[in-house]
Amino acid sequence: MHIPVLKKEVIEGLNPKEDENFIDATFHMGGHSQLILEKTKGKILGIEIDEDIFKKAKEKFKDNKRVVLINDSYVNLEEIVEEIDFKNVNGILFDVGMSSWHIDESKRGFTFKKDEPLNMLFKKEGMSAEEIVNTYTKDELERIFKDYGEEKKARKIAEAILKARKEKPIKTTFELINVLAQNYHALPRIFQALRIEANKELENLRKTLSQALKVLKSGGRLLVISFHSGEDRIVKQFIKENKDKIEPLNKKPIVPEMEEIKQNPRSRSAKLRILIKK
Ligand SMILES: C[S@@+](CC[C@H](N)C(=O)[O-])C[C@H]1O[C@@H](n2cnc3c(N)ncnc32)[C@H](O)[C@@H]1O
Repeated sequence: MHIPVLKKEVIEGLNPKEDENFIDATFHMGGHSQLILEKTKGKILGIEIDEDIFKKAKEKFKDNKRVVLINDSYVNLEEIVEEIDFKNVNGILFDVGMSSWHIDESKRGFTFKKDEPLNMLFKKEGMSAEEIVNTYTKDELERIFKDYGEEKKARKIAEAILKARKEKPIKTTFELINVLAQNYHALPRIFQALRIEANKELENLRKTLSQALKVLKSGGRLLVISFHSGEDRIVKQFIKENKDKIEPLNKKPIVPEMEEIKQNPRSRSAKLRILIKK
């Protein structure tokens, strides 16, 4: 089960009032949204890219008239809001990346701990991790391992992949692990890099933040929970570029307390930034 991170901090940051509306841009099964619903009588627009998760969420919230669920990417935020005419948005939450469900149940190769097809896509279309590993040039692989995985041995690992795939295509997580055998320590970073590349996660976040700003009411709150430095860098850059339009509530990002990290190790790298629209 996916445990929402920074629950108390998200609710304090969004500060929902009785008649306010919110967008949960990474709805999943509505962990955060449920907490928001307890504080407001307003509506929530939930966006979830993953069709399998979306179907389950839709079923879970089928009797709740205050929740509108859309199966799409948040990169289409402005369009979605316009299409369903979702007005007076007081807060938007992004809790980016994958969920525990992706690791535990999707069978799409998100973790190196299980032998699964090397897919790593949130949605059905797109270039899978398998295609990336088997078609990218050495330079391209090195770039993603460096940029999205901060992997020091990026070049060596890219070379090992090219050598291995000449023999036969790399199709599963365990086949990839065999290729990386001497660099076992690098596995989390290589898997992270492939997932980010497959889903265009950084590009999408960059494209979406300015849309979120447009959609928000003046005085509205934009909350972003990121899980690695590449994502947080995008948020920091966005703050810099929009100084005249937004005010960060805190100088430094909010991180989980020790107790939360103990109970939910996945939260250890979470960073929350809260921005207020002027
Ligand atoms: C970390 S989980 C969110 C968990 C949720 N806040 C909760 O506490 O229950 C991230 C979710 O965002 C979804 N997601 C990832 N990229 C997305 C995108 N571009 N558009 C919409 N949803 C996306 C994932 O499928 C996943 O379900």
